[in-house]
Amino acid sequence: MEKNLGHVYQQTTKYSRNNLEGRRLDWDNKPESYKEYDGEYLVLPGPPPDGGKSLWQSLLERRSVRNYTVEELTPEELGQLAWAVMGATRVTARKDFFFRTAPSAGGLYPIETYIHINRVKDFSPGIYHYSVPKHGLYLLRDGDLGHSLAEAALGQQIVENAAINFFWTAVTSRTFWKYGQRGIRYIYMDAGHAGQNLYLAATALELGCCSIGAFFDDEINKLLGVDGEDETIVYMASVGKLKK
Ligand SMILES: Cc1cc2nc3c(=O)[nH]c(=O)nc-3n(C[C@H](O)[C@H](O)[C@H](O)COP(=O)(O)O)c2cc1C
Repeated sequence: MEKNLGHVYQQTTKYSRNNLEGRRLDWDNKPESYKEYDGEYLVLPGPPPDGGKSLWQSLLERRSVRNYTVEELTPEELGQLAWAVMGATRVTARKDFFFRTAPSAGGLYPIETYIHINRVKDFSPGIYHYSVPKHGLYLLRDGDLGHSLAEAALGQQIVENAAINFFWTAVTSRTFWKYGQRGIRYIYMDAGHAGQNLYLAATALELGCCSIGAFFDDEINKLLGVDGEDETIVYMASVGKLKK
């Protein structure tokens, strides 16, 4: 077996019965479990969402769709999709903790959601940050960024054609705090849950969706305004109206 980086990572981050001793959590330095920008968040419609196809029908019909019409999404569709991905489902007494639609290893929630709006009724085009507690969007960067984002996604045209694109970053320190290097495994699992939630919600709403794992990481990081070190892009997805 070739000892490449992936192999070394997998081997050195295995749990075994003799390497779990003496692990203590540094509660005084626990990172925040969500991020918020100073400024106004535009509150999205919902939750809870209503209507649409059943879970079972959505599982049956889910496909990666790469052709979209030029129609806008409605604010209700945007709100339903954002909530499905990572929305709060239960607020606990602890002000910084929200159970969500997607599970997360240790309840640490390393994944942040950004949404690029190309075409949504009543929303100006730009890149927004999604706040879990507020179920709202904060405009980080306005303007027509579809072409630059598509170029950063290895020239994939779907990014420019989509009505919206999701960007999931990982704030790695949230997970490293408890799991150390093994946490990278969990970060990618968490991102996968968000991605599948989006696929199923889009299918239920009769929208097209496609996951995107091919991108120039630091070009996307720069467009999102994240440092690429503590917080870095891990996954993307595009959504648009289905061509009939
Ligand atoms: C982690 C991951 C990354 C992917 N990256 C891309 C991508 O960059 N571009 C693309 O067109 N499709 C991408 N896809 C979609 C896959 O090509 C698609 O899921 C696969 O062909 C199976 O088809 P289905 O989703 O319709 O079942 C990705 C899927 C996953 C799960």
